Amino acid sequence: MEVNWTRKDLLSLYDLTPEEIVLILDTAEEFKKVSERNLKKVPALRGKTVVNFFVEPSTRTRVSFELAEQRLSADIINMTASSSSLQKGETLLDTVRNIEALQADLIVMRHSCAGAQNFIAKNISSGVINAGDGAHGHPTQALLDLFTIRQKKGRIAGLNVSIVGDILHSRVARSDIWGLIKLGANVTLAGPSTLVPRDFEQIGARVCHNLKDAMVGADVINLLRIQHERQRAGFFPSTNEYARFFGLNKENARYLKPDAMIMHPGPINRDVELDSALADGPQSVILEQVTNGLAVRMAVLFLVAGCLKK
Ligand code: CP
Repeated sequence: MEVNWTRKDLLSLYDLTPEEIVLILDTAEEFKKVSERNLKKVPALRGKTVVNFFVEPSTRTRVSFELAEQRLSADIINMTASSSSLQKGETLLDTVRNIEALQADLIVMRHSCAGAQNFIAKNISSGVINAGDGAHGHPTQALLDLFTIRQKKGRIAGLNVSIVGDILHSRVARSDIWGLIKLGANVTLAGPSTLVPRDFEQIGARVCHNLKDAMVGADVINLLRIQHERQRAGFFPSTNEYARFFGLNKENARYLKPDAMIMHPGPINRDVELDSALADGPQSVILEQVTNGLAVRMAVLFLVAGCLKK
């Protein structure tokens, strides 16, 4: 199967064909091999400048993008909102146009507003990679989730994947749902009815409001954090009550298949959505997800950089 990558931006998994998603995963396999060598650096982005512009906090995404850029030999600039002239009232578009004027080839951006990266990508010729936009999308997180599932289970098509928690406010959930459905997985979403509206059935996911229903038969269970920073109203009575009904713990884990994988995008609210012992236990692949994020982000940077004007 011959697939050519033709996009200067990576904005959303919704935009990608299944073949493009598989191309990223296959390219990441090659970069994972590079990361296991003694000499971990390749010259693929030599001479290219990448600006990491994080207008929202991040640990995993920011560090792994920066490491991926170093491994690809790019020149790197790191910016945060608090150290930029956004603080003085400069618009986001003016800020990125100035970054472009300094000949940045690629901008990796996280922003609290859904669609911010789409808007920027339409208005500049530098490539734009979405590192998370509001509650809309987090494509590289979903790609590393897909990569990890494929690596551990050998396939994605036909697997039963349950995503539990604050689906309404989760960009990870949206990107995971698009990616999993495009690659043929059966997706179940579970959580309180206030956080998992039935509307998600329209895009092909099964919705349930009972944790046991999401656990029985699942090959993969992905627990999400309650996003207090995006919630404007009380979507459930208390954190304790949420943990009681929707937290995965040692007692209810008996409903899981013995080989079910436990995933979490991080950061974890330990003992709320996921019991600490399970987060660190043999079924958990949480730190493998983080490790795979490096290879996946190298693949995305490599493919997108190949489509930039010289
Ligand atoms: N999973 C994830 O996006 O984590 P960070 O917010 O730490 O980047």
